[in-house]
Amino acid sequence: MEQCIGVFDSGIGGFTILAELRKLLPNENFFYYADSLNNPYGEKSDEKLFEITSNIVENLKSYGCKIIVIACNTATTRCIKYLRNKYSDIIFIGTVPAIKVACDHNFKNTLVMATPGTIDSERTNELVRDNKRADQNIYLVPCYGLAQAIEKKDTLKVKEILKNIFKDYKDKNIDSIVLGCTHYPFVKKEILEEMPTVALLDGASGVAKETKRQMELHSLLNKNNSLGKVKVYNSLEDNIAVLD
Ligand code: DGL
Repeated sequence: MEQCIGVFDSGIGGFTILAELRKLLPNENFFYYADSLNNPYGEKSDEKLFEITSNIVENLKSYGCKIIVIACNTATTRCIKYLRNKYSDIIFIGTVPAIKVACDHNFKNTLVMATPGTIDSERTNELVRDNKRADQNIYLVPCYGLAQAIEKKDTLKVKEILKNIFKDYKDKNIDSIVLGCTHYPFVKKEILEEMPTVALLDGASGVAKETKRQMELHSLLNKNNSLGKVKVYNSLEDNIAVLD
């Protein structure tokens, strides 16, 4: 079986990560598991997420994946420890909200948008504790329903949710917004309509760099120079498509 990198998310969100991975690792094969059937992850219990993500990992393993990129902040912050314990033969790369990036770049008032599951997680709160200086403010904002509205391409709903979220932060001199869910880069335009002066931060290029580093470290890089193939499985439609 051909070696390939597994990537998964609760639907289309992880394509924002896949795009960076393909730029950095053009010769690699990818198998992208879009779990639209179980979207949204952000409002599910840990037990349910453990079950869902274990099932995906089993699937990706059967496709020959030795390295799996969790292209989802919710699944990473809630399940990565569990998955690493359960599948010690797989290398897992996670995606977490770019809180460290915001702090390192000296932004003073950062709003972190993420699913309720990510906002509530120990990992997100650890990132704030470890990186925030006393002169910086970080506002953690659970965005109920937003990933689901993006998955369904419901622009009216997206705009309504964003208006509601930002109304309480217009007077807080917000200078950066962390897009702590991989679905959110798809609505950058709508976010900037509400908050035109902010810098938008996401973790996609960091995830791609870490994937490359781990592949080098474990000698997993594809040796031949031909362009890699990308297969996409969608759990809602139960079909596999091959991307160009
Ligand atoms: N795209 C995912 C994330 O980064 C999950 C969205 C959801 O299903 O709630 O958190």
